[in-house]
Amino acid sequence: MKPRILNFGSINIDHVYRVDHFVQAGETLASDSMSTVLGGKGANQSVAIARAGGDVRHIGRLSEADQWVSTYLEASGVDISLLESVAEPSGHAIIQVDRNGENSILLHGGANQGFENASLESAISEYNSGDYLLLQNETNAIAHAFDLAVSQGLKVVLNPAPMSNDILSLPLEKLDTLIVNLGEAQALASQDALDQVVDTLAAKMPETRIIITLGERGVVLVNNGDVTKVDATTANVVDTTAAGDTFVGYFIASIVDGLKDLEALDRACRAAALAVESFGAMPSIPTLDQLES
Ligand code: RIB
Repeated sequence: MKPRILNFGSINIDHVYRVDHFVQAGETLASDSMSTVLGGKGANQSVAIARAGGDVRHIGRLSEADQWVSTYLEASGVDISLLESVAEPSGHAIIQVDRNGENSILLHGGANQGFENASLESAISEYNSGDYLLLQNETNAIAHAFDLAVSQGLKVVLNPAPMSNDILSLPLEKLDTLIVNLGEAQALASQDALDQVVDTLAAKMPETRIIITLGERGVVLVNNGDVTKVDATTANVVDTTAAGDTFVGYFIASIVDGLKDLEALDRACRAAALAVESFGAMPSIPTLDQLES
């Protein structure tokens, strides 16, 4: 039987504004358009796993007023049996996308910050050695979920986005896989130069598969002391939002599907490249059919 994937992560309603440039301090700027779409690093990664053909169960919290979110996630193939419907507002994000397709994101955690240890204990206790727990950094109680999963023999995959100081105190050497962008990697290593970042993280986490994404410069994989560079897939950038989430979801789904690291990275890079070619977070995540057509 294939390992199962449990994703403990955020669900946000994204309010996305197209702008010429990011609004500056003291400036009032008219946007060219506005749309409201589903997002959140956690939910995006669950949808990416599902669209990559994987089975994923999502531990999440959202407002009882936003039931369309559960419907959307379920229709996308995510197991929503561990979603809590709560009285608090859902998490949301205000996202500016500039003329180059780059984004700037302001988050409000809302329901994503209200997880209780007991519900995590109950959810994780259903999983066994060899199953995967995926974590990002937009919910509370990550350290507790990490400890529980490790003590039950689960493989923990961490995408510490957005980076914060709390991440530095996690037992990162116990991770199965760490997936970071360059800024996150630099923060974890307290180094700037990529070579030094790689050496420092490899020494800190000798048994962890470390993946550093470098945008259009590709990806660096560090595994068992070997460092491999993978080129990015070229893309016509429209909106980079959720490219990283697409990469993470596709990579894990591909590993669970039995692909080797480099094959999984190739698939994840191609999926992320397709994601940046269309607008929005979750709507831009491709299906495996789209990727292979
Ligand atoms: O990674 C993109 C996501 O970051 C957006 O969907 C937004 O909700 C923030 O969580």
